[in-house]
Amino acid sequence: MVNGLMAHTERVQLGDRSYDICIGSGLLNGLGEACRGVAPGDRMLLVTDDTVDRLYGQAVSDSLTQAGYEVVRLAVPAGEESKSGTQLFRLYDRAIEMALDRRACVMALGGGVVGDLAGFMAATYLRGLRFIQVPTTLLAMVDSAVGGKTGINLTQGKNLVGAFYQPALVVCDINVLQSLPPREFASGLAEVIKYGIIHDAAFFERLTGQVHQLAQNADALAGIVARSCAIKADVVRQDERDGGLRNILNFGHTLGHALEKVAGYGTFLHGEAVGIGMAYAARVSARVHGLSTGEVDRILALVKAAGLPIHAPGFAWADLRHAMEVDKKGSSGQPRFVLADRIGHVDWGCVVPEDVLEEAWHAGGQ
Ligand code: NAD
Ligand code: GLY
Repeated sequence: MVNGLMAHTERVQLGDRSYDICIGSGLLNGLGEACRGVAPGDRMLLVTDDTVDRLYGQAVSDSLTQAGYEVVRLAVPAGEESKSGTQLFRLYDRAIEMALDRRACVMALGGGVVGDLAGFMAATYLRGLRFIQVPTTLLAMVDSAVGGKTGINLTQGKNLVGAFYQPALVVCDINVLQSLPPREFASGLAEVIKYGIIHDAAFFERLTGQVHQLAQNADALAGIVARSCAIKADVVRQDERDGGLRNILNFGHTLGHALEKVAGYGTFLHGEAVGIGMAYAARVSARVHGLSTGEVDRILALVKAAGLPIHAPGFAWADLRHAMEVDKKGSSGQPRFVLADRIGHVDWGCVVPEDVLEEAWHAGGQ
């Protein structure tokens, strides 16, 4: 029993900004009480999107009200477009209208879009309000709700404005994943598979055995969310502000980000682009970093078994390569890669010869 919830708990150890990630089934009911331990004020700005609001908004609002909070509820339109200045200023306006002061808390109930937007609002309104993440997509549970990256998109690019701002609590209710569309579920699995590749070969093996029935097995799902969060928490503990080790979380993302951009945002879900990016990074790893071809095949097989694509025919290499040059994580136009020497271990900051980069892309189509 942690924070009044019957849940498995992982802790992100960051000194006086440490916090718990609670993972279990049916946690939304006890959410209000759980918040009491970290949000002593009496007002809660509940930020969600209209889809999640229809499904869970009332239950969450009721739980918060029962725990004594006055709830100010605001739903943005579902989708990436809401990670915008327009929606951010809507949140500020509402907060000012309701005279929210520093004792108020912001809760993000939704996927990564809501988490990033509400988190940035919490980081900046009155120079910082307490913030709680209640992720409702698999991707948000295993990735975006943990680690404190918040922000919005500009017309010039994704995540260009943001802040590192840690939540005070993360609550992952596995039951909400039942309503998640299968394509969104698969997208989240890409990040789960990533943790196996970058850090935990046994976890990769376990996923290989479980991937087909995960959506139907709440216990197995809670287990993989917990292990993913534990790995992310450990990386964030060591490199909160993305100065070195945290780069390993970008395995598959150098190409993935480029593909999202070239295809037009929204063509691929983030995890789909990352699936293709991980398959590509595995091929590059085999060429220059010692990953065996057998392990490349195991990575491709798991990505495919998760329902994710492993290649995107029809995109010109020149366009993808150009998009990598302007990826903010590269330096001086030279893209850096996270490469695996075996499943369970990667290195970051790897520079790869141009001919290898191009040949590995074309090899994906064979
Ligand atoms: P999302 O927030 O857009 O959610 C995907 C869709 O699922 C939405 O339409 C949403 O309404 C719906 N949905 C959410 N929960 C649901 C549920 N339980 N049942 C039914 N439908 C549900 O997308 P996402 O994949 O969660 O997050 C993507 C965003 O996360 C991107 O903006 C990305 O940049 C960001 N991100 C941030 C970090 C970080 O560290 N902060 C990491 C990875 C990704
Ligand atoms: N999603 C990558 C990170 O949190 O650093």
